[in-house]
Amino acid sequence: MPNRILSHHRRRVHCTRPEAPDPFAFGTTRDNLESWVSVSVYRSTVDSLYERVGGEAFFTALVERFYAGVVGDPVIRPLYPDDLGEPKAHLALFLSQYWGGPHTYSEERGHPRLRMRHAPFVIGTLERDAWLRHMNKAVKAADLPADDEVELLSYFDMAAQTLMNTG
Ligand code: HEM
Repeated sequence: MPNRILSHHRRRVHCTRPEAPDPFAFGTTRDNLESWVSVSVYRSTVDSLYERVGGEAFFTALVERFYAGVVGDPVIRPLYPDDLGEPKAHLALFLSQYWGGPHTYSEERGHPRLRMRHAPFVIGTLERDAWLRHMNKAVKAADLPADDEVELLSYFDMAAQTLMNTG
């Protein structure tokens, strides 16, 4: 019986795919940013980037590469705590959830409210560019199929822009 419900659910969701929210529209308003969780709920019901790229292991490795760059960065390293364990875990869980994986981030951290969570840090063009440089390098090192690589790079570009809070 549960299988039946699941397959009905999947079919219904699949049919509505063309009308699904555009996950990149969040970049234009704060409200859209706050809807990242609901977008990830939608994403988890269809073939997701999370599954295509290799699931949790991919995001854990991506985040490791990203922070390996951050560690040597004089602009953004000082923003992070000495112990990078928590930042690593939170970013990997957030990205996994956003791209269609399990909802562990929300269970552990609640609503992402990423603009609010970044408010204590001054994020201008220098900080944004440094963050993106490390993330772009980390993404490209994965050697993903072109479509998935573009999707990730565009997303990070848009998201980092949205999180700026000063010039
Ligand atoms: C634009 C440049 C960015 C800077 C300078 C920056 C910096 C930071 C800093 C300093 C923290 C706090 C780490 C801690 O104390 O635990 C943080 C947390 C976080 N950042 Fe960023 N970030 C940037 C962009 C982004 C982007 C684009 C994303 C998502 C795509 C993101 C996702 C997160 C997440 C999920 C957390 C953890 C939130 C939580 O506490 O649950 N950040 N970031």
